[in-house]
Amino acid sequence: MSVEKTAMVAKAVATSKRFKLISDLDVEGRRVFVRVDFNVPMDDDRRITDDSRIQGTLPTIRALREGGARIVLASHLGRPKGKPKPEFSLEPVASHLAGLLNQDVMLPDDCIGDAPRKLTQDLREGQIVLLENLRFHPEEEAGDELFARQLASLADIYVNDAFGTAHRAHASVSGVPKLLSDKAAGLLMAAEIEHLSRLLNNPPAPYVAVLGGAKVSDKIAVIESLLLRVNCVLVGGAMAYTLLAAQGFDMGDSLVELDKLEIAQRLLRKAEARGVTFLLPEDHIISESIDGSSSTQVVQNGEIPKGFRGVDIGPATIRTFQDQIHGAKTVFWNGPMGIFEVDMFAKGTTAVAQAIAHSGAHSVVGGGDSVAAVRKAGVAPFISHISTGGGASLEFIEGVELPGIVALYTR
Ligand code: 3PG
Repeated sequence: MSVEKTAMVAKAVATSKRFKLISDLDVEGRRVFVRVDFNVPMDDDRRITDDSRIQGTLPTIRALREGGARIVLASHLGRPKGKPKPEFSLEPVASHLAGLLNQDVMLPDDCIGDAPRKLTQDLREGQIVLLENLRFHPEEEAGDELFARQLASLADIYVNDAFGTAHRAHASVSGVPKLLSDKAAGLLMAAEIEHLSRLLNNPPAPYVAVLGGAKVSDKIAVIESLLLRVNCVLVGGAMAYTLLAAQGFDMGDSLVELDKLEIAQRLLRKAEARGVTFLLPEDHIISESIDGSSSTQVVQNGEIPKGFRGVDIGPATIRTFQDQIHGAKTVFWNGPMGIFEVDMFAKGTTAVAQAIAHSGAHSVVGGGDSVAAVRKAGVAPFISHISTGGGASLEFIEGVELPGIVALYTR
């Protein structure tokens, strides 16, 4: 989304919501604590492999810089389990951000204590400090009040632009905004709320949800909630194997959550009772190995032999899914249709990405893997909104009030 569009969407949502936007605050000369989600994927050499979350916060950072704010960015990275570990340092993020903004980004070696206190006190207008990984302290995830106080003491104003972390009631997400009364949503946060809210409030029908990924157990709550709103659910990926096994199909050696068969049956019954079209794959691409080293075959349901695993949806399923998506006015997609990281098994996921992009529907894609698939298929510019939140976007469309959003309410 362009900077102008992000700002426009954010403005529209803030007027109808209970929180302020950064444009409602006078930030000139004041220290602004900005919770961002710089939890970005990196390769073994600590090179950032997808900087979408960093790019997503640039409109907020630039607006604050232009407004003369003294900017204090704070984020977690990975799960260092409450201890400082060099492999979880935000150092690569600080350098990357400095390159994107063409200015220095100072990185103290901790997020609390003498070094950040001194740096944030001396900060001049437009300058930026990125605090070291918040999760180097167990108090962050515990939502500890004293830790929140130490963070809050570094700033005068609180801004949350970390939609990806809004489902975590952590100290920097829900504790700090309780302590700083001048607070607002960042532009990315507001744009995420706007687009995802459209999926909850009278979304234009037909509304099609496309779900994939490995486990049905991760998606039970979201499916139950989607069944109240959508006209059609299309399921691919390994989670479909559990649902098919629940219908009595032999899935060969495919990934099936045997302890979830009963829940899967319950979901299928609920979909039927609500009159929601609930489509599972009718055919599959199968292989003896999952790394692309064996040949593949197309088989129908009930024909997966022992020793073979489903790795993608088959051609007939692709056509059925495309037809449903083409007629949709609203689409939500989370999770790939197969092991799309292996090119041989990426056809189904790519076809779904392209169908969504060309549907003309209001389309929202959430979750790391489906976002990567959209980018791999080269259709990202044709998706209405690519969420920077995985778990957060799922919880949002379940209808859960996310702690990071509630903490911003001022009215
Ligand atoms: C995410 O990547 O979903 C967010 O950054 C939250 O990270 P977490 O799942 O480790 O809390």
